[in-house]
Amino acid sequence: MPSQLFATKSIAEIQEADAKGQQLHRTLSATALTLLGIGGIIGTGIFVLTGTAAANHAGPALALSFMVAGLGCAFAGLCYAEFAAMIPVSGSAYSYSYATLGEGIAWFIGWNLILEYLFAVATVSVGWSGYVLSLCDQFGIHLPYALSHAPFAQGAPDSFNVIRTGAILNVPAVVIVAALATICYIGIRQTSAFNSIIVTIKVAVVLMFVFLGVGYIQHANWHPFIPPNTGTFGLYGWSGVLAASGVIFFAYIGFDAISTTAQETKNPQRDMPIGILASLVVCTVLYVAVSIVLTGMVSYKKLNVSAPLAVALDAYPSLLWLGLPIKIGAIAGMTSVMLVMTLAQARIFLSMSQDGLLPKVFGRVHPKFRTPSTGTVVTGTCAAIVGGLFPVGLLGELVSIGTLSAFVTVCIGVLVLRYTRPDLPRPFKAPWPWFTCIAGAVICFGMMAFLPLSTWVRLAVWTVIGALVYVFYGYHHSRVRAQMAAQAVQSATS
Ligand code: ALA
Repeated sequence: MPSQLFATKSIAEIQEADAKGQQLHRTLSATALTLLGIGGIIGTGIFVLTGTAAANHAGPALALSFMVAGLGCAFAGLCYAEFAAMIPVSGSAYSYSYATLGEGIAWFIGWNLILEYLFAVATVSVGWSGYVLSLCDQFGIHLPYALSHAPFAQGAPDSFNVIRTGAILNVPAVVIVAALATICYIGIRQTSAFNSIIVTIKVAVVLMFVFLGVGYIQHANWHPFIPPNTGTFGLYGWSGVLAASGVIFFAYIGFDAISTTAQETKNPQRDMPIGILASLVVCTVLYVAVSIVLTGMVSYKKLNVSAPLAVALDAYPSLLWLGLPIKIGAIAGMTSVMLVMTLAQARIFLSMSQDGLLPKVFGRVHPKFRTPSTGTVVTGTCAAIVGGLFPVGLLGELVSIGTLSAFVTVCIGVLVLRYTRPDLPRPFKAPWPWFTCIAGAVICFGMMAFLPLSTWVRLAVWTVIGALVYVFYGYHHSRVRAQMAAQAVQSATS
């Protein structure tokens, strides 16, 4: 078995299987990919997490935390771009690691991508439900508590205690996940058009906040820019800046999701790097601008809330009218994040099932819509159940740690492949690979290190479950393993 764990798939074989197996429609351009990237990135992170990260860790230096996290993502993004241009298939980091680091690591990455995408849909659906409830309240519509909140909550931060809340089900979270899964089921073209509208709304709202808020900045709120450390690691000071970057990393998750649509991209070699890097640059600029304006408008001490932008607007009566558009923009933003993540998860299932590591049914493509239909239904069902039952806090950090571990592996994989397969055509090359890949891996691992111990334990539990699935299913159904066995028999008989 150990040698099988390091069995790699040839890149030609991956591409051939991808092309032959499922003819998804090729409709996406570089612009559509960039919009998909922005659609997958801007959401709960900027609209919900910025406040707690500033109030509890970084203070006004939150902008620096966004730069650190953005830098880690930029290095990882360059590595993703090199891989995505070289191996433009729908399995993203999972397929890349299958071609370079072997089946065992590919499984580990694929399993962690499930943690990223599927659980991100669930996490964001809970944030979405919170914003919708507050919007309904504003219009005098009050949904019953029992049907609009999760029945379970985390007992205390960084703990394993789960307590009952008295609620039954977070119905809005379930409904939005089901609605978006239906859109993804129907088709990628419709998904992309729907996404472009939403992205326009949320970017417009973020820009409105920045341009209108800039006139209300009180310079005193920025002093001291990096509040002195309290004596506890991660509570302000430079360690606080780094701890905040671990928290707000969630805000960047999503740019990698566009690499899963390689099969549906018109010219993946050219368009993938453009889409990944352009969406990352746009979001980093917006995030840094929002955090500078936000911490300038109100003291960071007042931002330990779930709707920090609203707190900043509430401080200035002339800006109160902006509260409603911001809520609508946040709801739109989270909607497109869920849409892109659902899209990505279904395509990861598709690739893993084509390789035999998951049952065939996960790879079914709808005969008419040409979308990975069963994968979409499974994603929607699982995310709706998790989103309907659990709170944001419990899920968000788990998503971040799973994503970061995938990023670290992609950075290492790109460097390994430069030496093991220098012959492969690389339409896009990450510059200074030694620096880019190692810096990407180190920064991403550093952000993992700042996540709480309980999150590491949950990652370990998830990994053990994944290992069991691989041992009892994937190992026995792996196509690569079957091919190796067939070749061994052939050479023994000839
Ligand atoms: N980056 C996405 C968000 O912030 C996951 O919602």
